Amino acid sequence: MQKTSPTGLDKLKASNLFAFPEKIGYYLALCLRVGLLLCLLASISLALFSAFYTKSHWFPMPDFTRTRTDFIAPGPGPGPQPEPEPKPEPTNTSHILFGIGASLTTWHDRSRSGELWWDPNTTRGFVWLDAKPKNETDFSGSIPYRVSEDWTRFRYSSSQSAVRIARIVYESFKVGLPNVRWFVMGDDDTVFFTENLVSVLARYDHDRMYYIGGNSESVEQDVMHAYDMAFGGGGFAISYPLAARLVEMMDGCLERYYNFYGSDQRVWACVSEMGVPLTKHAGFHQFDIRGDPYGVLAAHPLAPLVSLHHLDSMKPMFPDQTHLDSLKSLLRAYRVDPGRILQQSFCYDHRRKWSMSISWGYTIQLYPSLIGAMDLQMPLQTFKTWRSWSNGPFTFNTRPVSSDPCQQPIIYFLEQVAVGKSGIVTIYKRFVANEGNQCKQKEYAHAMAVQRIEVSSEKMDPHYWTKEEAPRRECCEIKNRGSIKNGGMGLRIRACKPKESITM
Ligand SMILES: *[C@@H]1O[C@H](CO)[C@@H](O)[C@H](O)[C@H]1NC(C)=O
Ligand SMILES: *[C@@H]1O[C@H](CO)[C@@H](O)[C@H](O)[C@H]1NC(C)=O
Ligand SMILES: *[C@@H]1O[C@H](CO)[C@@H](O)[C@H](O)[C@H]1NC(C)=O
Repeated sequence: MQKTSPTGLDKLKASNLFAFPEKIGYYLALCLRVGLLLCLLASISLALFSAFYTKSHWFPMPDFTRTRTDFIAPGPGPGPQPEPEPKPEPTNTSHILFGIGASLTTWHDRSRSGELWWDPNTTRGFVWLDAKPKNETDFSGSIPYRVSEDWTRFRYSSSQSAVRIARIVYESFKVGLPNVRWFVMGDDDTVFFTENLVSVLARYDHDRMYYIGGNSESVEQDVMHAYDMAFGGGGFAISYPLAARLVEMMDGCLERYYNFYGSDQRVWACVSEMGVPLTKHAGFHQFDIRGDPYGVLAAHPLAPLVSLHHLDSMKPMFPDQTHLDSLKSLLRAYRVDPGRILQQSFCYDHRRKWSMSISWGYTIQLYPSLIGAMDLQMPLQTFKTWRSWSNGPFTFNTRPVSSDPCQQPIIYFLEQVAVGKSGIVTIYKRFVANEGNQCKQKEYAHAMAVQRIEVSSEKMDPHYWTKEEAPRRECCEIKNRGSIKNGGMGLRIRACKPKESITM
């Protein structure tokens, strides 16, 4: 988009070099009139210097009507100058239009988690239903709904609703709302962390064609569908220009790929025809896992949390809470410090030889042994694959959960979030799953005496995730030399010093 403006060197060429012959001519005429030998010599040396100067641009000859700095800094030259392009405003929530695929039968229940992340004052978008509700008051929540139109005329092999949901990007575009930069698609059981989604999207030029999302955690799913496809449940973002092209192509794509399984696969096929690849981002979570999501949530990659999906298909995130209350707990921490939610830092108590892994706003694992960063950052495999309920493979490495209680970490879950003068404090409480099956070793019992862990931190820089810098894990230190008072221990998270390492 940037128009080129003349560089300093270009202007130098234009204004000065061609001035020399004129000056030489002037001197020669003067010499003829005055006839002074000295003057002739001066003209010859000037001509020689000029020839050298034309070949070499490295030693600019100062023009005495300008200051030296004019040669270095490009400034306005003669003639009309191009208007500087106004810098686009940074992307914010208002630039996103959400399109949520739902149906009359599912939305009634799922709207409750939708209402938790949707902010009626700032979030724009619609839930797309398959038919008009009979009783509108049942659907009068804060997320506005629309009824999909004109979708039954398309061919399909396995699922007609996949056609309808693939067309949401088309229908969202056709609504024609102003100032939309990104169309973000999701399922009715997708939870979006909108602030972090904005941080991710703000890094990309919305005037170019982008297709941003993530694939499945279960390799079997990626093999069956595609590694380079954005799985719909994790949500994906389509920039305005790409959406505009998809709208033109959608009917043809739906016809060509009528035998595909899912809606996300149809969109992917159509995007592929445009030659646009998937830009993968580690914060989108299709969450194609079964069982307990703990391991993944406790070791999130170093990227902002953008979405979670399928939460109702697995154990609640917090062991003693319902699905909905678990989500409320996580969102409570998220609202206080959106960018830091689930960010992992490691703490060592070198005196006691303990290791601690914090997943901010969710959990802490305490190991009464020294464990390296490369292991702590690897999720414990508390879950199975989506389709076959197997122990893998996943698209990331996992650590097995030992059946020996002495090899398992002591686990703490978020209990309280507080904002004070000195920053943010999150408190995590010890959780005992099975009183009867506890490690009896002395060192373990000693660690079990820690009932609560208090973590203090400054609020994360709101631009932390939009900066160009490579991400870096934050450091953690033990407060009061690790003293345990009334079963409580204090930790502090802060930016690492340039040469600091996380060494056990
Ligand atoms: C979002 O950006 C638009 C400019 O495109 C601006 O008018 C609006 O005030 C911004 N909204 C917020 C909440 O910052
Ligand atoms: C939305 O805005 C209104 C009026 O500005 C305010 O009273 C209300 O608390 C806001 N709701 C939320 C969920 O922020
Ligand atoms: C619609 O649902 C509301 C609450 O769910 C109920 O109070 C109302 O009677 C219903 N209306 C009709 C016409 O069924």
